[in-house]
Amino acid sequence: MRLIITEKNIGDWAAVHVAKRIIEANPTPEKPFVLGLPTGGTPVGMYKRLVQFYKDGILSFENVVTFNMDEYVGLDKDNPQSYWRYMHDNLFDHVNIKPENVNMLNGMVKNEEEEIEECRRYEEKIASYGGIDLFVGGIGPDGHIAFNEPGSSLSSRTRSKELTKDTIIANSRFFGGDLTKVPKVSLTVGVGTVMDAKEVLILVNGASKARALHYAVEEGVNHMWTISALQLHRSGIIVSDEDATLELKVGTYRYFKDIEANNLDTDKLIEEFYAKYKK
Ligand code: GLP
Repeated sequence: MRLIITEKNIGDWAAVHVAKRIIEANPTPEKPFVLGLPTGGTPVGMYKRLVQFYKDGILSFENVVTFNMDEYVGLDKDNPQSYWRYMHDNLFDHVNIKPENVNMLNGMVKNEEEEIEECRRYEEKIASYGGIDLFVGGIGPDGHIAFNEPGSSLSSRTRSKELTKDTIIANSRFFGGDLTKVPKVSLTVGVGTVMDAKEVLILVNGASKARALHYAVEEGVNHMWTISALQLHRSGIIVSDEDATLELKVGTYRYFKDIEANNLDTDKLIEEFYAKYKK
């Protein structure tokens, strides 16, 4: 696993990485690039930068197929807090992605049968593209990836998951601080679904994620910190800011800073990216 501790901006680092992967894959309608995407406060900067790359004519989403990680149960598309709305506001409405290439879980399932059917459909659709090329994600303060709360099976697939009190509290900031407005159940890809991607890139920011980052990097693989499954992935990358490293050992911090020394200055990475790909 790589750990990139950026000095400036995790969103810029992630955007350059995602954009390079798409460009270098040279996707076509027959062989699109399949991208897994997260929501939340953390990836907003990455989406802004990706939109800018598109507007600057460097990056096209024409042959990109996306799969989002999760959705709240009970929020329809028009709800301002639905992940459907979030993704359209932050990315899809600003780039040339084809609506039929956008895949999101439908949170408006009415009963358990529909839930199971929706999750099965999602897994099958991912498989129909031959899997996900790059899954981008974030984590909760309890180390959850997508909505795979502590104790989730590390080989889980897409299914419904109840949210923990911790997550409801953390996400209530998007619901005016009102805990009662936060949905209690989600549909989410499983840890196994994420780990099946050819590459996984996880964004971690802020002191509230410091404990989770410690468990992800310095402790063993453990279902109580579902992000730790990334240790078993062949191509796993965590990008974090300085604040999120507060619980790491000095030695761990210095080790990763040292081996990634040439990859940490995001201004320079953006400059090099434009120099290489801007026609
Ligand atoms: C939610 C999402 C996760 C996301 C997490 C962190 O719980 N289900 O996929 O990683 O929020 O969100 P934020 O970036 O806002 O801290």
